[in-house]
Amino acid sequence: EQHFQSVKQSLLLYEHFVDESEETNLLQEIETHLKRVRYESTHWDDAILNYRETEIWRWNQQNKQIIERIRKLAFSKEVKSIDFVHVLDLAENGVIKPHIDSVRFCGRIIAGLSLLSPSIMRLVHENNKNFVIDVLLKRRSLYIMKDSIRYDFTHQILGNDESFFNGVKVPKTRRISLICRCEPQ
Ligand code: OGA
Ligand code: MN
Repeated sequence: EQHFQSVKQSLLLYEHFVDESEETNLLQEIETHLKRVRYESTHWDDAILNYRETEIWRWNQQNKQIIERIRKLAFSKEVKSIDFVHVLDLAENGVIKPHIDSVRFCGRIIAGLSLLSPSIMRLVHENNKNFVIDVLLKRRSLYIMKDSIRYDFTHQILGNDESFFNGVKVPKTRRISLICRCEPQ
């Protein structure tokens, strides 16, 4: 179906985007930034529960190469990468509720690297709530969402209680994601 085709082209998944030692190196540097940041439970209208977050502008030489690898793959020449990486640390009981990233702060492409835990990303079409796509985000995988998936679907990360893929439990522990965004047009 035409519509489905456009959806598949606007969501790309790369398993094993980083190896175990690259994950360890990233986590070590991220930890120095998160050390003093406290976990937040929620505000009633917040999209995210039980998390902490930071923005990282400068990376050590090794990790910088990984960030560049993400940006090269995700962003074409006509979009401009946002200079910092958004780092989101979801606690074991953390949840990201359905939302669409604000078009005021983010352009048409979003790339996310998942560390420490697998999780389920659920995509729900804004105008047809029956159109639901569950995506298994493996540990150390990268996703790139753009265009239709980025604008027409909400995305969310399911809490551990709901974390099933094709009927099989996917235990979600603490999860850290690195999110690379581009400037709005
Ligand atoms: C966000 C978001 C997804 C992820 O922070 O807006 O949707 O992979 N994060 O952590
Ligand atoms: Mn988002």
